[in-house]
Amino acid sequence: MSQEIRIAPSILSADFSKLGEEIAAIDKAGADWIHLDVMDGHFVPNLTFGPPIIKALRKTSTKFFDAHLMVSNPDVLLDDYIAAGCDGVTVHIEAATHLDRTLSAIREKGAKAGVSLNPHTSIEGLSYVLDKLDLILVMSVNPGFGGQSFIPAQLDKIAAIKQMIGDRDIDIQVDGGVTADNVGAVKAAGANVLVAGSAAFKGGPSCYQANITALREG
Ligand code: DX5
Ligand code: ZN
Repeated sequence: MSQEIRIAPSILSADFSKLGEEIAAIDKAGADWIHLDVMDGHFVPNLTFGPPIIKALRKTSTKFFDAHLMVSNPDVLLDDYIAAGCDGVTVHIEAATHLDRTLSAIREKGAKAGVSLNPHTSIEGLSYVLDKLDLILVMSVNPGFGGQSFIPAQLDKIAAIKQMIGDRDIDIQVDGGVTADNVGAVKAAGANVLVAGSAAFKGGPSCYQANITALREG
């Protein structure tokens, strides 16, 4: 089943001094989803924001809030992320001791359930939870920071996941170093949700629409 192409700008690359305005601007510029990079300073070296900030930002856009939890214990705050307004919650397979239970809990609480794989992680761990998944996130950089270079080896992983899921209604999302120059190869490999931080927010608000168009059409 071919899924609709969606562009999900990552606010990690936005101007943090005015996040609400930035989300409203990227929404208006044509973003399909808003990618929220939650980092706990433990699972990844960086530390960003959590449910209170997300709750405050919820009123700035009606677009799909796509929470990427780069945290060591994702089960602890699931209720808070969903109450804050996250429409999708993606946990890292490397941090989910009981992934089947966590994905079921995300769905039971009313959000779309996603799992993310770091660049070194193979896809075998997905085999027995495919029926619990709405989204699979392939990290094309080592998580923690924006502005890194795309890891080309992940293209094979994307294609392998595409084959694994068959005609299931599961989005394949790619995150890290995605630009207008490589987005064509990423889509050709099988991805349909494209996260971009630097490539979406570069140049400031007057460039956002052109940036998103370049990613959508690349
Ligand atoms: C990295 C984050 C990515 C990152 C993307 O840990 O998960 O979403 O912000 O930023 P770019 O597109 O600049 O690599
Ligand atoms: Zn991310």
